Amino acid sequence: MDNIDNNKTYYSFLFVCLGSGAILNKTTELASPTALASPRLTGITVDKSVEFPYEELARATDDFSLANKIGQGGFGAVYYAELRGEKAAIKKMDMQASKEFLAELKVLTRVHHLNLVRLIGYCVEGSLFLVYEFIDNGNLSEHLRGSGKEPLPWSTRVHIALDSARGLEYIHEHTVPVYIHRDIKSANILIDKNYRGKVADFGLTKLTEVGSGSLQTRVVGTFGYMPPEYAQWGDITPKVDVYAFGVVLYELISAKEAVVKPHGSNVDTTGLVALFDDVLNQPDPKEDLCKLVDPRLGENYPLDSVRKMAQLAKACTQENPQLRPSMRSIVVALMTLSSSTEDWDVGSFYENHGLVNLMSGR
Ligand SMILES: Nc1ncnc2c1ncn2[C@@H]1O[C@H](COP(=O)(O)OP(=O)(O)OP(=O)(O)O)[C@@H](O)[C@H]1O
Ligand SMILES: [Mg+2]
Repeated sequence: MDNIDNNKTYYSFLFVCLGSGAILNKTTELASPTALASPRLTGITVDKSVEFPYEELARATDDFSLANKIGQGGFGAVYYAELRGEKAAIKKMDMQASKEFLAELKVLTRVHHLNLVRLIGYCVEGSLFLVYEFIDNGNLSEHLRGSGKEPLPWSTRVHIALDSARGLEYIHEHTVPVYIHRDIKSANILIDKNYRGKVADFGLTKLTEVGSGSLQTRVVGTFGYMPPEYAQWGDITPKVDVYAFGVVLYELISAKEAVVKPHGSNVDTTGLVALFDDVLNQPDPKEDLCKLVDPRLGENYPLDSVRKMAQLAKACTQENPQLRPSMRSIVVALMTLSSSTEDWDVGSFYENHGLVNLMSGR
């Protein structure tokens, strides 16, 4: 699978670095597939096998018709399906599943969290098909930059950041085995009908790993989101996701792509991280920070909250992975930011301050 599509990068290289240990450990841990499973199942119910027959998936997608296609990513195409009376999204992968990956898939179907897109099941007839819960409102990238979408209010952006951070914290700290996503980006954060964020595609990067005993592996990720230690050395720690999450925070502030093309040029590109670093390293960044804020927000944002989110993103995208915060601390920081931002929303809605105090119980 040495293909390179326009935004996903695959590098092959020999394992001479720390990253090898991380992968081999994770693979060995698969021998005990005891992922934490929530007792509450919602949506499509499947019997104890999570394997779907191909005919059922073909029926549910009108034979994988173009009309049912909702997207195309680095691993394959995604189709809308109506399956057992529920909406689903089926990913038709461009590759076959290895035995190791099938074991992995069974584990993945048992990881449930409100802020993770649920893998309902799979099918291995012909190609590999992954069946996910359907998330109604598309992905975050479309909301930030797509035409025909209303701009997301600031408080919603903070909440989506918190939701995604919670999803990531869960896979970093509470599943057995723990996971590192390795492809966090705004296209992999889906938005549900209540405008809550859900992290998609965790566990998928393992599909591209070539056998646990092999000396060779690949760096899988998307330009603009990969931290230096991962892009250069393939060093895999949870801090890879923290860095990419920081880039998503910068996207939420600015609605810019992770890799920014300067006007009139498609040759020179600047990463969003460098763009924000230049501004945040100034002694008084206020004015230039305002210039980076998504113009579609107009004046409707509390600068203090934006500044705090930018500072958090800066901490996440530090060059030294050890200096980046854990997802757990990021969740705490975003919870604080979210509660103060909700107060601000009440304030912006009711101009009468007496009423604001009443609303917030002061
Ligand atoms: N469970 C889902 N529910 C609704 N839409 C989905 C679902 N999964 C994916 N999609 C849509 O399909 C599109 C393609 O998804 P896909 O994961 O294949 O590509 P990607 O996220 O752009 O890149 P990558 O391959 O790196 O994940 C997404 O952008 C998303 O809008
Ligand atoms: Mg995706």
